[in-house]
Amino acid sequence: MATAPSRDLKKPFLSDIQEIRRRARQHIEQGAVIENYKADLETSIRVLNEALATEIVCVLRYKRHHYMASGIHAQSVAAEFLEHAKEEQGHADRIAERIIQLNGAPNFSPDGLLMRSHSEYVEGETLIDMIKEDLVAERIAIESYSEIIRYFGDKDPTSRRLLEEILANEEEHAEDMKTLIETMGSQAEQA
Ligand SMILES: [Fe+2]
Ligand SMILES: [Fe+2]
Repeated sequence: MATAPSRDLKKPFLSDIQEIRRRARQHIEQGAVIENYKADLETSIRVLNEALATEIVCVLRYKRHHYMASGIHAQSVAAEFLEHAKEEQGHADRIAERIIQLNGAPNFSPDGLLMRSHSEYVEGETLIDMIKEDLVAERIAIESYSEIIRYFGDKDPTSRRLLEEILANEEEHAEDMKTLIETMGSQAEQA
């Protein structure tokens, strides 16, 4: 016997469209931030600023490594470092834009930058040291961004998606660094 359709199916999907329309008209100066924003706004802006600091430190470290590798004629590695520096810059920009959307202020201050950042700025003596330090930094970003993604959950899906996209890119970076280490290892064995 077929069961009668549940009453719930007839309910509109949105909780109360009149109420949503009323709230949208109030506080329009809040822009994208709605009254019903589910995460703690202050915490969201703080963790996004920590992610921003992490990205800025990664830009600086990859830039330093790029120029140092160019100086010792490791052109292909230098090019890889530069590509990563540009991508980290792109991440920083997207995070700063999101902070603005949440009516926060992106913190670009060099003061306390390393304290806010999850990853470290390690210069590294040799080419292999540099690559290893970059891999470590990527692994730190992967772990801390995974945690931030869990915090946003379904409370702030836009910030979560942004971090998920960046996380996928950091995983590619980590893989690139691992491949470089392996390539250099096998070249050393052949030499
Ligand atoms: Fe990044
Ligand atoms: Fe990265």
